[in-house]
Amino acid sequence: MDKNAAVLARIPGPKAWPIVGNLLQVDMSRGNPYRQFTQWAKDYGPIYKLRIGPSQWVVVVSGHDAIMDTLVVNGKSFSGRASNYRDQIFSKGAGLIAVDGRSEKLKLSRRLAIQAMKGYGPGKIEHWAMEQTQEFMDAFRDTNGEPFDPRLEIHSATMKIISLLIFGEKFHRDSEEFDTIQKVLDLVNKSVGTGVHGLLLDLFPWIRHFGNTIYDDMATATDMSMTFWSKALQRELESDRDDKCLIRAMLDYNSQQHAIQLNDDDMRVLSFQLQMAGIVTTSSSLYALLNIMLHYPHIQDKVRDEIQEVIGDRPVHMSDQNNMPYTQATLLELLRYTSITPLSIPHKAVVDSCITGFSVPKDTLIIINRWAAQKDGSFWEKPLSFIPERFLDSEGNLVGNDHPNRQHLFAFGAGPRMCVGESIANARLFLWTVTILQQFKLKPELETPQVSCDPDFYKGGLVLSPPDFKLRFIPL
Ligand code: HEM
Repeated sequence: MDKNAAVLARIPGPKAWPIVGNLLQVDMSRGNPYRQFTQWAKDYGPIYKLRIGPSQWVVVVSGHDAIMDTLVVNGKSFSGRASNYRDQIFSKGAGLIAVDGRSEKLKLSRRLAIQAMKGYGPGKIEHWAMEQTQEFMDAFRDTNGEPFDPRLEIHSATMKIISLLIFGEKFHRDSEEFDTIQKVLDLVNKSVGTGVHGLLLDLFPWIRHFGNTIYDDMATATDMSMTFWSKALQRELESDRDDKCLIRAMLDYNSQQHAIQLNDDDMRVLSFQLQMAGIVTTSSSLYALLNIMLHYPHIQDKVRDEIQEVIGDRPVHMSDQNNMPYTQATLLELLRYTSITPLSIPHKAVVDSCITGFSVPKDTLIIINRWAAQKDGSFWEKPLSFIPERFLDSEGNLVGNDHPNRQHLFAFGAGPRMCVGESIANARLFLWTVTILQQFKLKPELETPQVSCDPDFYKGGLVLSPPDFKLRFIPL
């Protein structure tokens, strides 16, 4: 028995097979194993263990108390990340997402990322988000109420703002740059959603010589990102733009001769990771919301009534948010209901530690099962229904941050590895939802919605992605 197995002995879990452990019991047929992990949480409780391969132990945490203990109380001890073979091909140990929580470079990268995602000044994100609405609102209006799939419009608007914040440029949908970012995103997404084939490549990298194509996809994505990066860097060096962007912030930082310097890979990988994380998360969420509004027309009407009462016909501002509890509750419920990052990004124990009294040795991987926590029927009433009212009190006010329902929502994580894009994600979701519902009534393609809005039908990948659907934008 290995030493770590002995330390983890008190934690229950499904029986592991020799050599492969529980690997082949993980159902990856739909690209993300959260269903299987949630079933195991029902069988073994809020904290259970798995073994992936001969010796990699994984602890899966699902209950609220255990999640808080992991991410906040012992957040520093579990602030590591698992850098797997697939990720190493692209990131070469650089960037932000897969870097160990104790690294000084990680702290620097997180700081630079958070500053970039705030747009380097008050009101900047609102300004760019509203500027971007014009394009997709025109496209929706041009449909003349005919059925239309808005996925590409939303995706493109989301990408443009992030590109502006990172590269200082908005890439048009027909541009070579837009095409490259999209291809890199697709290749990385494909490699993450490859299920057991991907996990096997991480464990046994030599299988790339025997028909496992994931390595080739990641190598292609890496080459494309490198070419893209050197051209973007060159353009930034030659430009006299006023507005600050992440590339400029990184170059300025390096020019100040700090002890820690960012090399080319650090800057390339940080830029691409933010670009990727910043696009798919928000665009999938907004796309999902439009379908949900077709299934819950009374909620659509209530949000619109609030918009009429508080804003009328003028453009929305972020400051309106505090006067719009129903809209805020709808967006919180969107994050809970869709749970598009069902298993988060795995953490790693950087020292020996414990979770709710169970010892967890250094190097154990930790998976936070956000799906199980946010859909737990023993806590949430009717967890599979979309009910914004769960975030409102009896007088229709938004419940405070300390309310149990807010406490049980971990949409952006918590603690030292919390999402760096929460503020831009919230701003875009709020401003765009309000602008769309202020100007259009959303109606299904036919009499009733044809495509389910149930997140259990979403596809796996970097984040869960809702299926394609069409709707009618009826101008008001
Ligand atoms: C609805 C939108 C979003 C959701 C639900 C979401 C959710 C999450 C979650 C659950 C994590 C993992 C936290 C953990 O490991 O404990 C995360 C991490 C991260 N998110 Fe987001 N996110 C969203 C939008 C964004 C945006 C717009 C960006 C912008 C660039 C972003 C960038 C990142 C990055 C870089 C990390 C890794 C942080 C680290 O490893 O230290 N996310 N996000």
